[in-house]
Amino acid sequence: MTVPSRVAAVRILTRSALRALPLLWLAALPADVFAEPTTGTNIFAPLSTHAEAIQRLAAFVLWISGAIFFIVFGLIVVALVRFRRRPGDDDAEPPQIYGSRQVEVAWTVVPVLIVIVLGMTTARTIFQLQDRPRPEGALEVIAIGRQWWWEFRYPKLGIVTANELHVPVSDTAHPAPTFLTLLSGDVAHSFWVPRLAGKTDLIPNKVNSTWIDPRQPGLYLGQCAEYCGTQHAKMLLRVYVQTREDFNKWAASQREAAVAAAGVTAGRRVFETTACLNCHTVRGTIGNGRYGPDLTHLMSRETIAAGAVPNTPLALRAWLKSPEHLKPGVLMPAMQLDDARLDSLVAYLRSLQ
Ligand code: CUA
Repeated sequence: MTVPSRVAAVRILTRSALRALPLLWLAALPADVFAEPTTGTNIFAPLSTHAEAIQRLAAFVLWISGAIFFIVFGLIVVALVRFRRRPGDDDAEPPQIYGSRQVEVAWTVVPVLIVIVLGMTTARTIFQLQDRPRPEGALEVIAIGRQWWWEFRYPKLGIVTANELHVPVSDTAHPAPTFLTLLSGDVAHSFWVPRLAGKTDLIPNKVNSTWIDPRQPGLYLGQCAEYCGTQHAKMLLRVYVQTREDFNKWAASQREAAVAAAGVTAGRRVFETTACLNCHTVRGTIGNGRYGPDLTHLMSRETIAAGAVPNTPLALRAWLKSPEHLKPGVLMPAMQLDDARLDSLVAYLRSLQ
């Protein structure tokens, strides 16, 4: 490389570094700059204490690391430009300087202090989030990660559902946090709804917990955040945050047994005479399997296949015909039903309001 092109390269580098500088502001901007419908997964727009504390810590760490980055790279750029080889330089070695107590003490003590500050801030956030007291009226939910779907059990309300978690809104006037006990039915998974809380793992034979107190009603999306096998990517989370009245209405309808709708007995017979009931529960029938999602109120859910497909008659039929087609590697087998039996099974499942 000739000297002028080296200078040009340094100039380009400096310019791109300067252009990237404004990105640092991202970390410090107030959440409302990123205001978007609650459906997003924006980590910069937290709407729950847990997510907010993590975002504050992340911004703090990013600011410190960013400052160090720019100081170090600034010095490198200055050294490259000021002390570059010039025409007419003699090739003599520059004066060598050894040992400066002040400089060595400074570059040891300053990083140690920075690490202590970062460590203590992180520890404070962790303890603040983990030691959260459970107020009266907190909702208890047991979340169980399974390949590849989520089971949600509300032990005090007697509700079992899948993939779509319903919780009440928790505003400052009426705090109503939800405490989640996290378990795994098979391998390690991770519960992550970015706008509500940081990732917490669900580990076999270990009980973990996390909590959320979403401040705005709406739908919050999340994702299993720990690789757990073929369909890890389609192990989606949906958290429906509802007003207290809406949540109570939802809970009341979930507690009811399946409605025995007229005209779907053929489909119900298909359900009860195939292997469906080994894995699925429909309360009020002989199906009480626990391996797959509880279907008692299947139609109250907006998606099937752990959020992978919308819950429409067509998609449901395609799913039953060949689960493998929509979610390769899925553990639900195709039941090899002919068209007539498939249609009546879809009609029966559609009646499970
Ligand atoms: Cu469950 Cu990844």
